[in-house]
Amino acid sequence: MACADTDHLAMYPVVQLDTTIFCAHIDGWAEAGHGPLPRRLAAAVRTLIVSGALPPGAAIPAERGLAAALSVSRPTVSAALDELRAEQLIISRQGSGTRVAEVDVAPAGPTLVERALGSATVNLAAPVAQRLPAGFDWAISPADLGAQLPANGYDPVGVVALRSLAAERFRSQGLAATTDQILITNGAHHAMAVAIGALVRSGDRVIVEQHTFGGILDLLDDRGAVAVPVPRDSAGIVPSELDRRLATEPTSIAVLLPTVNSPTGVATPAGRLDELAEILDRRGTTIVADEALADLTHGQRPPGLGARCRSASVITIESLSKSVWGGLRVGWLTARPELFDTLARQRARRDLGTAITSQLLAQRVLPALDDHLVARRHNLAAAATLATRLLHERFPDWGVELPSGGAMVWATLPLADATGFATYARQFGVATLPGSAVNTSRGADPHLRIATDVGDDVLRDGIDRLDRAWAAWRSA
Ligand SMILES: Cc1ncc(COP(=O)(O)O)c(C=O)c1O
Repeated sequence: MACADTDHLAMYPVVQLDTTIFCAHIDGWAEAGHGPLPRRLAAAVRTLIVSGALPPGAAIPAERGLAAALSVSRPTVSAALDELRAEQLIISRQGSGTRVAEVDVAPAGPTLVERALGSATVNLAAPVAQRLPAGFDWAISPADLGAQLPANGYDPVGVVALRSLAAERFRSQGLAATTDQILITNGAHHAMAVAIGALVRSGDRVIVEQHTFGGILDLLDDRGAVAVPVPRDSAGIVPSELDRRLATEPTSIAVLLPTVNSPTGVATPAGRLDELAEILDRRGTTIVADEALADLTHGQRPPGLGARCRSASVITIESLSKSVWGGLRVGWLTARPELFDTLARQRARRDLGTAITSQLLAQRVLPALDDHLVARRHNLAAAATLATRLLHERFPDWGVELPSGGAMVWATLPLADATGFATYARQFGVATLPGSAVNTSRGADPHLRIATDVGDDVLRDGIDRLDRAWAAWRSA
């Protein structure tokens, strides 16, 4: 809790950081997080304050000097500081400048032994497969490439053989798609960039889930669009809330993760997908459906929105990144014929095609993908069970549900905002993703997303580290 009264600060020494040193502490702020520049700057300074790196009473460098040192305009700095003033994290007073308020900061850092143990950082922040899986032929010869069309290697739509396999895959999921309605992309994020680039204009309001993939928020920010959140419950997007938003918002575009949501790891049950499809059809919505995680349902994968909607226009996006390996950089989208050409042109304006080498490897993967997924789903479900059990044992005061999809556990901490703890825990050598990074409202958020697809030993090590960090955080 912060105290807004500067008199309280009289007892604290005025720590006066040189502007250059202050800037070095927030190095990388403009690329981190999401939102406009002032918000990113505010987030970086907030982290310094809540982690205790900037103690109460510390002076914030003058706005003009800070703006010059950061190469941004003075209004950018002012807006960032206004945000922190509104949160009572800093206080400005005529004559004594701006100082860090008296806040509940993170307790003192870990001991030397803990720091040493922490040198091997365990990354539980990124729920991604760590390496190319065995069982596929990954070797490429010049002769293999020679057999691919086009021979010159440029193809902004994708090679026909791969498009045909992707269309077949969609049809097996109940979605009508022909080869000429498939656009091969450099993964799902790229496909979303193409779709959002084609459909969304600056100032547009776009429906998204309250908690969603951070890349969607980045793309909407980049476009100058406004993300309008729809709440989720334990089964997925809340239908009545979606209906209400579509009725009241001047928008007919929604960017959703219908089958499996990140960061929550919730696989939407078929009945809920039907309810959502009925609403989207009735409202005539255009949906960008990010199905990058859809193959990671821990049980059977249900047909997605693309197969359920009748009149709503669904752009369905899939990717090999989560089911096979992110480094392939191969995904695809399908859309109705009337929209497809617009998307294909949008793509060709942005880049000149997906690497033929990756497209060749994807062609080898696709026919065997379902077999591969049997083991992958089994392993992910087992990792989720282990992670949930360990988290229940170690953190009885955290809320932890067994996820039904994806490669993560979504924990609810008994804190108003878990961001400070996530930052603090990094000192113990474990990285997790705080909910504030993927919350469309961008405010305080009590969740941590913990990746589970890291191998049992690494998972145990990471949870041990979180446990030590939590004990230190709570005891201070
Ligand atoms: C929900 C979701 N969508 C999209 C992506 C990006 O996928 P790709 O690597 O295919 O671009 C990710 C991966 O981080 C994701 O979790």
